[in-house]
Amino acid sequence: MEKFKRYTITAALPYANGPLHLGHMAGVYLPADIYVRYLRSKKREVVFICGSDEHGVPITIKARKEGVTPQEVVDKYHSLIEKTFGDFGITFDIYSRTSLPIHHETAREFFTDIFNKNGFIEKTTQQFFDVKAQLFLADRYITGKCPKCGYDKAYGDQCESCGVSLNPTDLIKPISTLSNKPPVLKETSHWFLPLDKFQSRLEQWILEEHKEWKSNVYGQCKSWLNQGLEPRAVTRDLDWGVKVPLENAKGKVLYVWFEAPIGYISATKEWAKLRAEKTKTSSVTLPENNHNELSEVKSDNVVSVQTPDDWKKYWLDKDTRLIHFIGKDNIVFHCIIFPAILMAHGDYIFPDNVPANEFLNLEGEKLSTSRNWAVWLHEYLEDFPGKADVLRYVLCINAPENKDNDFTWKDFQARNNNELCAILGNFVNRVFVLTYKFFNGLVPEKGAPDNSDKKIISEIALFPEKIADSIENFKFRDALMLVMDLARAGNKYLAETEPWKVYKENPARAGTILYYALQVCANLAILTEPFMPVISDKILGLVNIPLPAWESAGKIDLLNAGLKINPPVLLFEKIEDDVIHALVERLKVGK
Ligand code: 2FM
Ligand code: ZN
Repeated sequence: MEKFKRYTITAALPYANGPLHLGHMAGVYLPADIYVRYLRSKKREVVFICGSDEHGVPITIKARKEGVTPQEVVDKYHSLIEKTFGDFGITFDIYSRTSLPIHHETAREFFTDIFNKNGFIEKTTQQFFDVKAQLFLADRYITGKCPKCGYDKAYGDQCESCGVSLNPTDLIKPISTLSNKPPVLKETSHWFLPLDKFQSRLEQWILEEHKEWKSNVYGQCKSWLNQGLEPRAVTRDLDWGVKVPLENAKGKVLYVWFEAPIGYISATKEWAKLRAEKTKTSSVTLPENNHNELSEVKSDNVVSVQTPDDWKKYWLDKDTRLIHFIGKDNIVFHCIIFPAILMAHGDYIFPDNVPANEFLNLEGEKLSTSRNWAVWLHEYLEDFPGKADVLRYVLCINAPENKDNDFTWKDFQARNNNELCAILGNFVNRVFVLTYKFFNGLVPEKGAPDNSDKKIISEIALFPEKIADSIENFKFRDALMLVMDLARAGNKYLAETEPWKVYKENPARAGTILYYALQVCANLAILTEPFMPVISDKILGLVNIPLPAWESAGKIDLLNAGLKINPPVLLFEKIEDDVIHALVERLKVGK
């Protein structure tokens, strides 16, 4: 029996103030998509939620700099980001945005509910104000010396060097990053969520009940909790965002980290509303989204939404497993602050896991959008059209799951040439070339298996379970390595059995070998799908069957003898040195 009836999977809402880069994909969206595709393949009920985070100070600053409105900034990047996700095969059920009325309403309701329960403390404090820009400064726009470790570029909310959480007034010699001048202190009043009141519940829930969380996540939570939680302001002086729903709150909006996670809930509401309308107007249940044509698994999708109110199942029912995919800089917000908001409100479920990743560096240096030290995902597709899966592969096999990792173009080339081309592509191609050469493109009959056949049969049977186990434990690198190991086993099988030699003496024996080799290919189509959906689709096109569900993986009769398969096509192409050289040079120039 499954412990949970359904899954709500969220991926961090990206800020709509710039395009997506490699780090976003490797850290959050790819692992989330792999997990969701796997769940769908297992026919589990799952909703996959994301959208643009369209509020917060960085967006207003970008708009100021560009001489446009914040709405114009978010409109531009929301569309670009949504398109990029589609191009990389990220299969959200909904990609929403926090500037929508449904989100403003939901976030305001949350605030009002907690307010009415006397869940906030109103406090007048002195806050840093930039006289030149005439703005109260968001914590991130004040830098100074960390009082704990002495790092001199600590932010007003956190020191990125030692990880300590800070208030801007804790900083030694604070400077406004807008004007490079010391800011002045000015009085303002705000509403604070008393996180300290949730300290013991959070300790019990995380430190006692979720010891299985990844050590990087558990460790960060522990250190936050050990420091002792303090009340945190959930409103800001700003004119861009969700207005505070109180009479005496003119010019104030909800803090972006108060309302953005509520965006997951608003997006689920929007999705349920759209889905209920679709169900009403069509007698057939439609496949859940349009990113993926492989409908064999999708059309079986077990999601059932009849009314707009059905969003509640995904957020209020204890039988739902909520999982947040995020990067490491979001841990405190998803593991401590958002759960505390949910506790203050009541009724909602808490995340069962938050498998946050570490960071991906680029050519040995920290990714930096301001220094243009990044590989932008939409630009990658201009350089490598149709090769989204190659990047999905490289980012997964080298994902920063437990520690920061490095992306280099050399490694990208080597992984493409030595792994995708030489192992996976080569195996599938050889099987199809041989089947066409000796058996006119028909799946041959199998005879009694000898020892080599028995070995590959047992490998076909064992790999899916091992891969599933790794995926379920959020070890996507290990899972993908195992997929490649099955392709390696296929190559070894061919090398040992040499059907091209055997055919001359014993065509039936060669037929048996190719029969099993073709079953490996069909299995690879299922097993690669979460990681490389386009490649999986190409293999399916070759073996000429629709995508079987995960439960079929491990079988040796996915393709029947006599089935006409399609002529070989290359799954991957080699990438030459000059291409890689040019990319490295361009990166250096752009810096
Ligand atoms: O770090 C970020 O990119 C944030 N925009 C993530 C927000 S996640 C959620 F809480 F909305
Ligand atoms: Zn520090």
